[in-house]
Amino acid sequence: MERKKILLGVTGGIAAYKAAELVRLFVKDGFDTSVIMTAAATNLVAPLTFESLSGNPVHVDLFKQGAGKIRHIELARRPSMIVIAPATANTLGKIASGIADNLLTTVVLAASVPVLLVPSMNVDMYNHPRVQDNLGRLKDCGYLIMEPDEGELACGVEGRGRMPEPEKIARFVLDILKIKKDYVSKKVLVTAGPTREPLDPARYLGNYSTGKMGFALARAFRERGAEVCLVHGDTAILPPAGVEAIRVNTAMEMLGEVEKRFDRTDIVVKAAAVADYRPAECQDRKIKKGDRITLELVPNPDILAMLGARKEKQVLVGFAAETEKLIKHAMQKLRAKNLDMIVANDLTIEGAGFATDTNKVTVITHDGKIREIPLMSKYEVAHRLLDIIAETWL
Ligand code: PMT
Repeated sequence: MERKKILLGVTGGIAAYKAAELVRLFVKDGFDTSVIMTAAATNLVAPLTFESLSGNPVHVDLFKQGAGKIRHIELARRPSMIVIAPATANTLGKIASGIADNLLTTVVLAASVPVLLVPSMNVDMYNHPRVQDNLGRLKDCGYLIMEPDEGELACGVEGRGRMPEPEKIARFVLDILKIKKDYVSKKVLVTAGPTREPLDPARYLGNYSTGKMGFALARAFRERGAEVCLVHGDTAILPPAGVEAIRVNTAMEMLGEVEKRFDRTDIVVKAAAVADYRPAECQDRKIKKGDRITLELVPNPDILAMLGARKEKQVLVGFAAETEKLIKHAMQKLRAKNLDMIVANDLTIEGAGFATDTNKVTVITHDGKIREIPLMSKYEVAHRLLDIIAETWL
């Protein structure tokens, strides 16, 4: 069997010397390991060290020619995973901004495999709002981040910023790569985020959905091998790499995009918060300030119910956002919309529902079976939901 390939990016932090041990561990774990160094990293450790430990050539130069192939694309396609350890503030900032000015950042931009970033730097640099903001944006884009350890730093001060020990990083990588590939050749449609219903040229009716739950689902399906289309409303976060992302505004636009694709889809998961009503009319001119006004709202089509009425072979999964009688209301939606599964979201629980990084849900399948998923990150919830779909329908 072909060995799993791993690509290690080494950037110019003092912990670069620890990356040599990481290469040794990857090779010991059976990975075919390649290394890309930034020019700064070559000032700290000689490329020959990594070459000797990995048994593969070390890549540094973006413009070096290699057997007629486009180097960064080739390097991005080959591995099962990319690990950047240590990842300096500079490299994190570049990746967060989509800058590709060296071989490593170019490869990362072209990659659709999981990328693990292992930040390592001085504690004040690590705590700097710009660095924290970049880490937040990277997480939202689907990059995996390993938090640095606390302890004595190379600069002599104590604090968080130390690169975790190579053994810890290697174990983390092994855990991630155990991700199953049980959705290969499945076509999946996920909806996410809010819809916006225009009221006048300046205003709309919306809701608090950020798209985090739906984007995490799209990412998990993609990682497990599915071909994913993500139809989403306006969000501040970026869609995960490797999925077809289609942005819509209104419920009617979402309906159009979903209907177009439904027949050639195997699994639909509707995590979007779709407006149940829209203004009867969108005014041409901005509504002037005055006394009380009354808005006339008309119902939007229920996209999920329409799919339920039309479905043949598809597995149809809905969400239910509730503030009371969670199970009763979710069960009613499951039956009324002819769903195979519903994910009930109790909005009154702290850390669950809209705009949180975590969620706690109750899953009800068509046979009436109820499963509780405790509070965990939306990404982990997404994988649990995929486990249930896979064990029930694949
Ligand atoms: O995006 P986040 O900030 O991460 O928040 C996640 C979430 C809270 C939005 C998500 O977990 C969630 O619960 N999504 C469903 C929200 C919702 O609209 O629930 P509902 O009970 O009103 O609708 C039930 C189902 O019907 C949903 O799958 C919904 O997508 C669908 N629906 C609703 C109305 C409509 N007109 N068309 C629909 O398809």
